[in-house]
Amino acid sequence: MTITSDALDAFIVEGEPGFPQAGRRRMISPAPVGRIGTGLIDPEDALLGRMSADAVFMMGDNPELPRMPDRPRLLDFFACRFGDLTFRHLLTSAKKALDDGQEEKIVMACMLHDISNGCLIRADHGYWGAQMIAPYVSEEVAWAVEKHQALRYFADESVGYAYPESYHRFFGPDYVPPEYIQKEHREAKAHRWYMSGRLITLYDLYFFDKWDPIDPEMFTDIIGRNFKQPEEGLGFDGSPTAHMWRTMIWPNNFL
Ligand SMILES: [Fe+2]
Ligand SMILES: [Fe+2]
Repeated sequence: MTITSDALDAFIVEGEPGFPQAGRRRMISPAPVGRIGTGLIDPEDALLGRMSADAVFMMGDNPELPRMPDRPRLLDFFACRFGDLTFRHLLTSAKKALDDGQEEKIVMACMLHDISNGCLIRADHGYWGAQMIAPYVSEEVAWAVEKHQALRYFADESVGYAYPESYHRFFGPDYVPPEYIQKEHREAKAHRWYMSGRLITLYDLYFFDKWDPIDPEMFTDIIGRNFKQPEEGLGFDGSPTAHMWRTMIWPNNFL
């Protein structure tokens, strides 16, 4: 399928003074993971055909996105990168845990549990999110975030957690989680930190319509005690997952 000139324009940003590659048009080739399998056309070939001295592939800050500080902290990603749904989903979940008197580690885990959906990747989001935050939180918080991926699909009546009604609509009433998720559930249930992962599912929100605005700054102290913000900023501290944070800072980089 060939892409029309108009459609191709959606992938081209005019160079702006004060931004990298100034004076040239900057072309964005979207990451395959969010595009393949959909009707979205891969513009890469057509963009390569447009490449010239005045049109290059984007590297660095995109003027279409809020500019992030040089040393980004956790809440900068909430404010500048996360989609509205994830923003309010994470804060509402953390607030529910806080209002219920849960320990800070649980509030922190709730605040981070879907961080991967914010602006990185959806598939297997619990695993991606856990890996991304692992250098900065306790092992237990990262574990809980990872395991919520599987635990969501399984009821636990001892804590009043039922299979989410919305999942029948999301996935169809006959959806059966794959074997690797079932195995993860069995193993997590036998783990000493099981309840931390389970509590994420309990304070999770399965519908997205109820929302009282929450100021993320209300969590500043809890973040300070439970999330090690690197001096150099997330993305620039050389941690094993710094690249994940950089990808969220510059999601449109060509390479
Ligand atoms: Fe989730
Ligand atoms: Fe969630």
